[in-house]
Amino acid sequence: MTDDKKNPEEPDHQTLTTRQGHPITDNQNIRTVGSRGPSTLENYQFLEKITHFDRERTPERVVHARGAGAHGTFTAYGKLGDEPIAKYTRAKLFQQSGKETPVFVRFSTVIHGGHSPETLRDPRGFATKFYTEDGNWDLVGNNLKVFFIRDPLKFPDMVHAFKPDPLTNVQDMGRFFDFVSLSPEATHMITFLFSPWGIPANYRQMQGSGVNTYKWVNQAGEAVLVKYHWEPMSQGIKNLTQQDANAIQSKSFNHATQDLYEAIEQGNYPEWELCVQIMSDDEHTELDFDPLDDTKLWPPEQFPFLPVGKMTLNRNPIDYFTEVEQVAFGTGVLVDGLDFSDDKMLQGRTFSYSDTQRHRVGANYLQLPINAPQTHVATNQSGGQMQYKVDRAPGQNPHVNYEPSSLGGLHEAPKTGQDHEPEVHARLVRAPIERQNNFGQAGDTFRAFEAWEQEELIANLVDAFSQCTPDIQDRMIQHLAEADADYGRRVAEGLKNHVSGHPALSGQIDPEQGVELSKELGEKA
Ligand code: HEM
Repeated sequence: MTDDKKNPEEPDHQTLTTRQGHPITDNQNIRTVGSRGPSTLENYQFLEKITHFDRERTPERVVHARGAGAHGTFTAYGKLGDEPIAKYTRAKLFQQSGKETPVFVRFSTVIHGGHSPETLRDPRGFATKFYTEDGNWDLVGNNLKVFFIRDPLKFPDMVHAFKPDPLTNVQDMGRFFDFVSLSPEATHMITFLFSPWGIPANYRQMQGSGVNTYKWVNQAGEAVLVKYHWEPMSQGIKNLTQQDANAIQSKSFNHATQDLYEAIEQGNYPEWELCVQIMSDDEHTELDFDPLDDTKLWPPEQFPFLPVGKMTLNRNPIDYFTEVEQVAFGTGVLVDGLDFSDDKMLQGRTFSYSDTQRHRVGANYLQLPINAPQTHVATNQSGGQMQYKVDRAPGQNPHVNYEPSSLGGLHEAPKTGQDHEPEVHARLVRAPIERQNNFGQAGDTFRAFEAWEQEELIANLVDAFSQCTPDIQDRMIQHLAEADADYGRRVAEGLKNHVSGHPALSGQIDPEQGVELSKELGEKA
C-alpha cells in the first residue's frame, strides 16, 4: 500500500528495511522461478530474516530463567540510625540524604525454564543494579533471607537435584529431598520454602535479601560485616497458600510479571526500604552460629534492621529481551566502600556470575546499554565477539592500548581512602565451618510461624514426602524433629495418614475424565 502524499523513492522512518538498511518492497513473497517455485539461493532478504530468527534465543539463565524487570530510583537517607553513614562506609551512593541513583531490578523464579508458571514453590530472585557515579553496584538477592547450602561446591548438585529429572524431564520431590535429607544445613531453608513464604503472591509484595554477608569500609579502611534487606513499603507483604496458588495457576502462569507491569503502567509504583544489619568484623564466638553462614538469620533483636534508603520502581522496560533477558548481575560488582567478606558462598558466586554471562550473553556483555555503567568507562580491553565500541577516553592516544605508558594512554585513579587489608592466618584445608547448628534456627522459625502457616507447612511437606522413599522420609523427619519435636511429630503423623501425593490417586482428579475427553476429541477429529 502506498501513501500518495509521499515520494515512493524516499523511504520515511516507518519504512521496513533489512539490517543492511535496504528498504523492503515485498515482505510477503520470496523470489522463485515462476509463482510455484523452486526458490533460489540468492534470496538475501529472506536469508537475512530467517537466519536472524534462527538465532533469536540466547541460552537461558542456568538458574533464575523466568523473570520480570523494571527501572527506578534509589534515594539515600544519608544516615545509619543517628550516625552519619560515613562512619561505616564511604560508598558515595549512601552519603547525602536525598541523593538519587538510577536502578534496574530483575525479579525471578529459580528452578524452571523461561515460560514456567510464576505460582511455583521456589525462592524468588531480587537482583538490583545501581548505576552509581562510581560505576555499577549489583545486589543479587532472593526474597528469603537464608539459603539451602553454605559451600559453593554443592551448588551444581543442589540445582541438578531440584531441576527436572534428566531422564523424565519432570521435577521430582524424591530427588529434591534425597539431596536435602543428606544436606542437613538445608533444614532452615526448606522450613521457609514449604510454608506460605515459599510462594510470594507477586513480585511487588515480597521482601528481598542479599543473603550473603558483605563488608562496609570507611575512609580509614575500617570494616564492619553487613547484610542487606529490602522491605516492601505501603504495598506490604503477601504470600499464597498452595490452594491459592493452584487457583491462580489454573487461570494464568504469568500473574507476577503481569502484576508488576500493570502496577507500573497505572502509576502504582512499588517501593522498598533498603535496611542493613551490621556486626563488627570478627568471628563472634559468643553466637551459636557463624555470622558468615548463609543458612542463618542474624537475630534482629541483637542486630536491628537499620534503614539506609528507599527504592521506587517507576518505569517498565521498552523491550523485554534487550533489558530483562540481557541484563547481567553479579556479586562481584561492588563500588568503593563496599567489600567482600570471607563468606565462602559469596566467593563461589562471585566467580560464577560473570563466567556464565560471558557464555550466555557474550564477552562484551558489559557494553550493552542495560549493563553498561552510566558513568565514565575507559579500559584497554578490546576485541571479542560483538564488540560494539572502544572504551577510549577523550584525548587518549589511539595507539596506546596498554598501561603504564608515557605516550598519552590511560592512567590509574587516585585512591579515595585507605584500603581495607584484613590479615588472614590459617592452614589451607577442605573443612566445614565449626558452628554448624543445622537445626536450631529451623526450630525457631517453625515456632515463629502463625498457626495457619505451620499447618500449611506440615501439609506441603507431607505431600512432598509422600513422593519420597521411606529412608528419605525417615531422614527428613529426624531433621525436622531435631529442629522442633512438635514439627517432626506432626509431619510423621501426617505422612502416616496420607493416602498418596498424586492428585489422581488421592481422588482429586477422576482418571476416567481424561479418557472420555480424549475419546470425544478423537471422534471429532
Ligand atoms: C542467577 C550461580 C547462589 C541469587 C544465577 C546464575 C548463576 C548463579 C550461574 C545465572 C546468572 C546469569 O545467567 O546471568 C549461583 C551460585 C551460587 C548461587 C554458583 C552459590 C554458590 C545464590 C544465592 C542467591 C542467588 C545464595 C540469593 C542471595 C541469584 C539471582 C539470580 C541468580 C537473584 C538471577 C539474577 C538475574 O535476575 O539475572 N546464580 N548462585 N544465587 N542468582 Fe545465583
